Amino acid sequence: MTVREPGERRTEATVLLLFGLTGACGLGLLVVYALGGQPQVEGVLLFGALGGLGAGIVLWGQRLMPTRVHIEPREPVGGGPEAVAGLQEPLAEEAGFSRRRLLILGLGGALASLAAALAIPVFSLGPAPGRSLFVTAWRAGRRLAPEGGPPVRADEVPIGSVLTVFPDGDDSDPNAATLLIHVGDRPGQAPTPDQFLAFSKICTHAGCPVGLYREQDHVLICPCHQSEFDVLHGAQPLSGPAVRPLPPLPFRLEADGTFTALGDFPEPVGPSFWDMKL
Ligand code: FES
Repeated sequence: MTVREPGERRTEATVLLLFGLTGACGLGLLVVYALGGQPQVEGVLLFGALGGLGAGIVLWGQRLMPTRVHIEPREPVGGGPEAVAGLQEPLAEEAGFSRRRLLILGLGGALASLAAALAIPVFSLGPAPGRSLFVTAWRAGRRLAPEGGPPVRADEVPIGSVLTVFPDGDDSDPNAATLLIHVGDRPGQAPTPDQFLAFSKICTHAGCPVGLYREQDHVLICPCHQSEFDVLHGAQPLSGPAVRPLPPLPFRLEADGTFTALGDFPEPVGPSFWDMKL
């Protein structure tokens, strides 16, 4: 029969206490999160949970695991009825609430509450974006208009200027921000009746608004990291960290001088993301 020394009993109780601390801190984390969360309190509770678990396991391994080497002479094999009866007591102890079982139960409880607490970030995830990263508010038939204003007319955009436009009457979608550019006569090309181009205003590098236009060579410049886009060649990147062109907005110039979108951008606007399909 295993005889526990007083020192071992104390260590055992300490380990159970530490596992209990982990469990209590884990449950506390859940409660604090459910009540609205408080980062400092959550940090302290997480420290208590992980610290209790670590200290308990270390104490268990160092003080309660057998470390001595036992060498016993081999006894003759076999035994009479007395020897068999003598086995009953240790077996009964093993079948009962042994130290090992108690500690394992304590560890299991601590891990369960800690796992529940660590699941908190899952609840903090927002709704899946779905198709929202692939579409904007632009639809066929929507007029191009400055924020909060009426549809813009061609004669209101002087040659060499840029105007930020949204779908008429709906400027709630920031991804719909579009640069309408009056490029004037294109070098090397015959003048066209409509010398306007429109591209997404969201930089394809990190999503900053592209707001600078260098009229002399028709280059759009992102102020964040100085990516440059060649307006006359599909807003292809010329330099800087951006590698994708700014998506163009298809539109037509109406007889009354306003512009009407022919649909949404043909590809997602803004920075590339991991599952972007072009
Ligand atoms: S966000 Fe435009 S260059 Fe970085």
